Amino acid sequence: MGVEPKKMEQLLSDYMDMQILYRSAIREVSTRLEILDDEFQFRHKRNPIHTIQTRLKTPQSMMDKLGRRNLAPTIEVMRTELTDIAGIRVICSYVDDIYMLADLLCKQAGVKLVRTHDYIKRPKSNGYRSLHIVVTVPVHFSDGGHEVPVEIQIRTIAMDFWASLEHELRYKSGGKVTRDVIAELRECAASIAELDARMQKIYHRLEEMDPTAEKPAEGQA
Ligand code: GTP
Ligand code: MG
Repeated sequence: MGVEPKKMEQLLSDYMDMQILYRSAIREVSTRLEILDDEFQFRHKRNPIHTIQTRLKTPQSMMDKLGRRNLAPTIEVMRTELTDIAGIRVICSYVDDIYMLADLLCKQAGVKLVRTHDYIKRPKSNGYRSLHIVVTVPVHFSDGGHEVPVEIQIRTIAMDFWASLEHELRYKSGGKVTRDVIAELRECAASIAELDARMQKIYHRLEEMDPTAEKPAEGQA
């Protein structure tokens, strides 16, 4: 049995509304992050952000997730239950930059921290490292303001290198990764974490030696 044309029309219109809302929230958060990056470049002569990637969850991916959680496939349920419809990935230079950016963003007017998963302090069992936060930001439309959740993954270039390849390898093997491969990937993740710590130390050492360096403000690295 198909969906009535009228209902389908309503569903599509609701979905378009939702897309605009979440796309706007992505722009709102991306702009705030870009401004923090610009300011840091101006004050400290380097960019803490290497790249920002954004994505809107596809309708199929939303339906799949609702299905996995045995939830009704409606726009309303998507909006109340899914906090990762709007997704932003921020790739940073150093580990300290991750916490500095998360902290400065969450302190801003209008931004509310909803959830934190710190997979850097507590890596996943496979070795995955990243800081995941969910925040809400206000999006102002002609009918008023809306608080929209955005999931932000913040990680270093090195953590991103591992996550991208691990994802690709898992996809390639159809999700069936053998135990020894899992163990090896976990070891690679640990080596990468060690490298991140060493690079961070080098940065601190050079910063201490630089007589012209302006000391970062309160809350900054
Ligand atoms: P979802 O239901 O998939 O959204 O999970 P969640 O929000 O409960 O989990 P989590 O916050 O752990 O992960 C969300 C996102 O983080 C995933 O969609 C990936 O982008 C990334 N991620 C989490 N774990 C891994 C991992 O082990 N490897 C890689 N490559 N990425 C991961
Ligand atoms: Mg998620």
